[in-house]
Amino acid sequence: MNDKQLAAEYAANLITNGMLVGLGTGSTANYFIEALARRQHEEHLRIETVSSSPISAVKARALNIPVLAIEQVAKLDVYVDGADEVTADKTLLKGRGADLVREKLLASASAEFWVLIDPSKQVSHIGEKSPIPIEVMPFSWQLVKHQIEVLGGHCELRLNANKDGLAVTSHGSLVLDAHFDSMDPDTLNGHLNSIAGVVEHGIFYRLATKIFCGYQEVVQVN
Ligand code: A5P
Repeated sequence: MNDKQLAAEYAANLITNGMLVGLGTGSTANYFIEALARRQHEEHLRIETVSSSPISAVKARALNIPVLAIEQVAKLDVYVDGADEVTADKTLLKGRGADLVREKLLASASAEFWVLIDPSKQVSHIGEKSPIPIEVMPFSWQLVKHQIEVLGGHCELRLNANKDGLAVTSHGSLVLDAHFDSMDPDTLNGHLNSIAGVVEHGIFYRLATKIFCGYQEVVQVN
């Protein structure tokens, strides 16, 4: 079992009957979905879920996990997802995929937000390894790019996987991948939240409640 899977199995074992569980997106979230399905099958665990992405909903339904539409849900018991970067104070960077908007919506609406990682995701500051994704209304990207530059950052429009077109999120937004030399996440989060034309961005500040880090057969919980 790899470290991500170890964290996912550990978290899935903490889910109890009657919970409404938010499903994240990515390889770690997939391990969690598989572990939940196994508990449902073997232990008759009774849960409902809501998904942060079409791809996770397809996977969960294929494994017979009940998935509610996001429109049916006002609050969740727990949202469980991976992350691209995690700092010691539980600030996250997310959104390497195409589902940032729903990921942050579910994380914000949940009583608890559990983050599943391996040690490669731990960083000393957000933006250390990856650019900060900023989802923008398609027609606003130049205006937002300028505002990012005023803040001292620089950014590029994200291209699709083949590099022959622009990346479009599942919400229909374009993505600016931004770099900032130095800015604390609290300040940057506030600035990005206030730029008109920004749909959502990848800094998850004060949302995560527990970090599960799998490493060499042990899960450390913070
Ligand atoms: C999806 O948009 C991301 O926020 C993922 O949660 C993040 O990229 C982690 O992915 P892995 O679990 O595949 O590492």
